Amino acid sequence: MHRLISAEYINEVKERNDITDVISGYVSLKRSGRISKGLCPFHSEKTPSFTVYGDTASYYCFGCQSAGDVITFISKMENLDYVESIKFLANRAGMPMPEEGKNDGLAHMRMRIKEQNREAGRFFYHSLYSPEGRQALEYFRSRGLSDETIRHFGLGWSPDGWDKLVSHLSGLGYRREEIFAADLGYSSRKGGMIDRFRNRVMFPIIDVQGNVVAFGGRRFVEGDSGGKYVNTSDTLIYKKTNHLFAMNIAKNNKSRELILCEGYMDVIALHQAGFSNAVAALGTAVTPQQARLLHKYADRVVLSQDGDEAGQKSIARSIPIMKAEGLDVRVLAITGAKDPDEFISQYGPERFKRLLERCSNDIEYSILRIGNKYDIATDDGRLHYLREVCDYLSGLGTLEREVYAGRIADRLHIEKSAVLSQAESSARRRAKMEKEKEFREMANNSAGIGSKVNPERSANLRGSAAEYALLNMLFSHQDFIKKASDQLPPGQFVTDFGRRVYSKFIEISDSGQEVTISLLSREFSESEISEIVRIINTGEQRGTDDFDRLIDVIRTEHSALKPRDAAKLSSDELLEQMNRLRKKKL
Ligand code: CTP
Ligand code: MN
Repeated sequence: MHRLISAEYINEVKERNDITDVISGYVSLKRSGRISKGLCPFHSEKTPSFTVYGDTASYYCFGCQSAGDVITFISKMENLDYVESIKFLANRAGMPMPEEGKNDGLAHMRMRIKEQNREAGRFFYHSLYSPEGRQALEYFRSRGLSDETIRHFGLGWSPDGWDKLVSHLSGLGYRREEIFAADLGYSSRKGGMIDRFRNRVMFPIIDVQGNVVAFGGRRFVEGDSGGKYVNTSDTLIYKKTNHLFAMNIAKNNKSRELILCEGYMDVIALHQAGFSNAVAALGTAVTPQQARLLHKYADRVVLSQDGDEAGQKSIARSIPIMKAEGLDVRVLAITGAKDPDEFISQYGPERFKRLLERCSNDIEYSILRIGNKYDIATDDGRLHYLREVCDYLSGLGTLEREVYAGRIADRLHIEKSAVLSQAESSARRRAKMEKEKEFREMANNSAGIGSKVNPERSANLRGSAAEYALLNMLFSHQDFIKKASDQLPPGQFVTDFGRRVYSKFIEISDSGQEVTISLLSREFSESEISEIVRIINTGEQRGTDDFDRLIDVIRTEHSALKPRDAAKLSSDELLEQMNRLRKKKL
C-alpha cells in the first residue's frame, strides 16, 4: 500500500471512477447486464475476450490473461505508475489532488529525462553543423534533405568517440543514474559511462505534447559497427509501442487522414514533398495504442509500408487492429520502388499523389494479396484460391460478403451463389471451431489443468472450489472477512495459493483497508492476479447464505487431505470429476 496517499482517498477515487465508464474511453464495450466485453487493448485479437465486471470493479482478458482494477488499467494504458494513475483518475473525477509528501521521485526523474532529451537533441543538432559533423550533413544532403527539413525534424549527428554526450550532460549536472534512466548512456565494463549513440545520424522522436521522448540513430558510415539503427529502449517516459514518429507535426494536418509508413526516412521524404500527414510506427505492425493515437487525429489511415514481404506482413497484422479501433483503412500499393522514400525520389510527388488517390480499401487489398498467391489459369490454382478467398470472406459482414463475392465470381467465371455458399460453410466451420476452443478453455480453466498458479488445485477439486467460492464471497462482502478468519485460520486452507490469497485478505482487512486488486497487485505476480480476478468474478455474485457450508467443506477437505497425483488423472477423468461435483452443487 502507498504511504503517501490515504486509503480513504484511494477508495474515493475508485468509487468516483466507474470501471466500465473509464474503460469505455479506450475500448468499445458491449454491455450485457453488469458485464461488458470488447477487444483487448493489450493484445491484438479479432473476437472480444476482454471482459469488464462492474460488480467487482475489475477486468480480465481471456486471451492474454491481463487483469486488474481501474487503477491497474490506467497504469498500463497510460504508462503511469501507481500514484500517477491515482492522480490521473482523481483528475478525471474532478477531485482535489491528494496530500502528499516530498517523495515524488518518479515524477522528478521523468522531468530530468525530458530535460536531458531536449538537451541531447540540441547537442546532436549543433554537432551536425559543426566542422566534425560534415560527413553526416553530407549524408543527409545526399539523401535529398534540405536544411529546412533538417531543422523541421530536429535531425542531428551523435559525434564519434565514447563519451561526448555523457560528458556534456554530466557537465550540466545530470547524474549517472539520470543519464542511464534516459538511456543516453550506459556503463562500461570498467564502470565508466559510454554514449548510447556514437557516430550516427540522429532522429528525435517527439510526442504530441512536444517532449523529445526518444531517439533513433542510423549508421551512415559503411563498415561501422552495430546495427543499422540504434534506438532508445523503453524508459520512464517512452514506450515504443505507444508512439508514432512525426505525430507531433502530422497532428496539425486538418485532413483527418494520416499516411502510415515504416521508417524515419519515408516520413521525412513525404513531409518534404508536401505530405505533412505522414507518420511512422518505426518498423513494426501497429499496436492498439498506436491505433488509438491515430484515431485521435484521423478517421482514415493509408498504410504505406515497404513493398517487401515484411512490409506486407505488417500490413496484414495492422489492418484488423486499426479496424477494431474504428478507422477507415486504405492500402497503398507501391510499385517500382522499395519504399515511399525511394518512390518519391524516383517519380516525384505528383506520382505519389496519384498513388494515394488510387489506393484500395483493406478488403480489396486482402483479396488481391490472396490472388497473388495462386495461378488462377489452372484448375488447381482456382480451387485453392477459391477456398482461401472464401475463408477470408467468411469473416466479413453480409453486405461486404455480397459485394466481393460478386467480384470474385466474375473473375473466376463462376456463379456468385457458389462463392457465397462456400463462404457460408466456411463461416459455419469457423464458428464451430471457436465454440470448441472456448469450451476447451473453459473446461481446462475450471479443472485447473495447466494452472501454474495453483498446481495443487486439480488434485483437490472439491476443496479448492470451496476455497475459491469463499474468496469470491469475501471479496464482495468484506465485512465477513473477520468472521471467516475467526472460524477458519489460513492454515486450514487446502491449496497453498488459496491460503496465500486468504491470508492477504485478512491482513489487509485487519489493517483497516479495503481489499482491492491494486493493493493485491503489490503482493502477487501478474499471473496470480489474473487468477484472483478470475476467482472473484466466477459464477453468480454470491450472497452469504453459503458461508457456513463453505467453511465446513474447506475444513473437511483439509483434514481429509491426501494429495493425489494430478498428473495421473486424464483430462476425461478430470472432466468427469468436475461434472460430479457440479451435480452435487458442491
Ligand atoms: N528499424 C530499426 N532497427 C533496424 C531496422 C529498422 O529500428 N535494425 C526501424 C527504423 O525505425 C526504420 C524502420 O524500421 O526507420 C524501417 O526500416 P528500413 O526500411 O530498413 O529503414 P529506412 O527508414 O527506410 O532507412 P533507409 O531508407 O535509410 O534504409
Ligand atoms: Mn528506406
